[in-house]
Amino acid sequence: MKRIKAIYPGSFDPPTNGHLDLIERGSKIFDELVVAILRNPEKDPLFSVADRRKMLEAMTADFNNVSVDTFDGLTVDYALRVEAQALLRGIRAISDYEYELQMALMNRKLRPTLETVFMMPAEKYSYLSSRLVREVAQLGGSIDCLVPELVAQRVREKMDVAHKFEKGEPSLDKMPSGGTGRPRKKKA
Ligand code: PNS
Repeated sequence: MKRIKAIYPGSFDPPTNGHLDLIERGSKIFDELVVAILRNPEKDPLFSVADRRKMLEAMTADFNNVSVDTFDGLTVDYALRVEAQALLRGIRAISDYEYELQMALMNRKLRPTLETVFMMPAEKYSYLSSRLVREVAQLGGSIDCLVPELVAQRVREKMDVAHKFEKGEPSLDKMPSGGTGRPRKKKA
């Protein structure tokens, strides 16, 4: 019998309940699902790739056909390397559709044998994005129902450190990341 392996690529900065909902749905229709975190050196992320990987591994520990990995370069090349036949992406609202369609068609152009599969997360997550989670947390709002507890805890820790750093606590200034969790900007 043919087994279908899929990748679920994304930034996951941070992973949200919407991502988890999609992972659960994907794990039910694919034999194997790899959550693949893009290593993107151009972005200034809130969490390192290693942190995101740890959070996703903890979130998906109960799914025995789900694993977590990281990749760089083209998603289609990564899919080929891990011998995946499908690429899973979530569509929350019509506003996602244009970008997702463009990406799916470009990926099909690059590798016609890789099939993109769109799934919809539960409606209650249709407004949820990692970007908004970061913004709400940075401005002091509660993210408790938006991300799993272990992620909320890690975000809170990050915000506490950043807040203390903004207040100018000297000990934090000595931290490698300046206390913000973000890499320091190179001096010009
Ligand atoms: O969670 P995101 O940020 O919406 O995920 C976007 C992602 C990682 C799926 C997309 O940027 C991607 O596939 N990047 C890898 C580089 C690539 O293959 N680019 C061509 C896509 S058409």
